[in-house]
Amino acid sequence: MADCHAEHALRERRSGVVFDQTVCAVRVVNLGARHGRIEQAHQLELPLRLERVSVVLVERVTSSRLDGEALGDCAQHCHLTRIPQRIEANCMRAVILDRNGPIDSLRIGEMDAPSMSADEILVRVHAAAVNPADLKVVSGKDGAAFIHARKFPTAIGYDFSGVVEKVGANVRGRTVGDEVFGFLPYSGTNKQGSFAELVSVKAHAVGVKPGGVSHEQAAASATVGCTALQGLRDKGGLRAGQRALINGASGGVGSFAVQIARQLGAEVWGTASAANADFVRELGAARVIDYRKTPLRSLDAKLDVVLDAAVTSSFQEVRGLLNAGGAYVTLLPSTSLFVGMVSSLFSSKRCGLVMVKSRAADLDQLGQWLAAGEVRASIDETFPLSEITTALSVQESGSIRGKLAIRLGEPPP
Ligand SMILES: NC(=O)c1ccc[n+]([C@@H]2O[C@H](COP(=O)([O-])OP(=O)(O)OC[C@H]3O[C@@H](n4cnc5c(N)ncnc54)[C@H](OP(=O)(O)O)[C@@H]3O)[C@@H](O)[C@H]2O)c1
Repeated sequence: MADCHAEHALRERRSGVVFDQTVCAVRVVNLGARHGRIEQAHQLELPLRLERVSVVLVERVTSSRLDGEALGDCAQHCHLTRIPQRIEANCMRAVILDRNGPIDSLRIGEMDAPSMSADEILVRVHAAAVNPADLKVVSGKDGAAFIHARKFPTAIGYDFSGVVEKVGANVRGRTVGDEVFGFLPYSGTNKQGSFAELVSVKAHAVGVKPGGVSHEQAAASATVGCTALQGLRDKGGLRAGQRALINGASGGVGSFAVQIARQLGAEVWGTASAANADFVRELGAARVIDYRKTPLRSLDAKLDVVLDAAVTSSFQEVRGLLNAGGAYVTLLPSTSLFVGMVSSLFSSKRCGLVMVKSRAADLDQLGQWLAAGEVRASIDETFPLSEITTALSVQESGSIRGKLAIRLGEPPP
């Protein structure tokens, strides 16, 4: 009976461990990636006959691991008789969305760690990155239902970089301790978020993070790098010797598209505001067009691929600039895209939409470019997880150049 009560109490608190002789509660604070400091411990007053039951309840766990040192501290306070080497907890710290609303309705709290299937790996997140999609998920607007499950409370965020903590029974080629990066699926069935300590992902949907690349760089490259690569190479069919125009070349996707088009051997033109022209030139653009002064349709040369990373143009607007066999690729569905796709059926020029997919091969390619210094994520600013609402507000303001990264765990020494 007492055991049942104790188990119930453990379930209520979401984490804990059974000991001999002692019943106590501990408050755990200021946890880094692996270690916790126990701030407060006290006898637990449960209306139970617990003489023969022994329980430690961990009231607030913000890491799924506590080590012997932390528990030694606990034992000092609580007179525990036995200290385990490690406690597995099933909860994690995360940025939590309870309902759609403004950015400041987000909170940082604890929630169940994601469950894992046999073909998945559990990744301890060291860094994440902000995307415009996060704002859509928070507000519930602009197609949010197609990129995240409407199930609350939920963690939010897509991009991550971290270390494999557990490997499913059917997984081959990934082991505990591997450094990996990627992004959660942009799908109406995705119930996870990467602004959290843990994510579980299909093993074939992550790339290897090279040792010389920081977790922040890797996380900030994942979605935007794959979108640019899949948009230019797969949808656009961009080849060496061709010319690509990147509309919105200073943004997250655009800044990667400029660099990746160069890696594919193309000449690159980019549009940007005047303030970002030098930045886009430094990324490798041969020509930068101020979109506030020069409308795309007035350009005087032929292009093979137009990637509209800003989603402000249309196939109708640029088709006159495309060579025969050329392609216009955009990033969001719209009526004008549908019209463009229909009219491209009667044309030698193509019109399409890229919907980014997380693939190990593409992420590995990105990782190699990052490690070689051929492509870089321009991180405008890095925020600790505790400042997530500030980071999202900065993203919303549109004033960033490149990407915003989010750091989890302890800051580097
Ligand atoms: N389909 C997919 O799989 C997929 C994947 C990733 C992202 N997306 C979507 O693609 C969009 C862009 O994502 P992102 O991460 O690159 O966004 P971002 O980082 O906010 O970049 C947007 C860029 O657009 C530029 N811009 C603004 N108005 C413009 C105009 N009138 N003409 C030309 N450029 C203009 C801005 O440049 P300046 O600062 O120089 O003004 C800014 O750098 C978002 O809506 C996102 O949700 C879709």
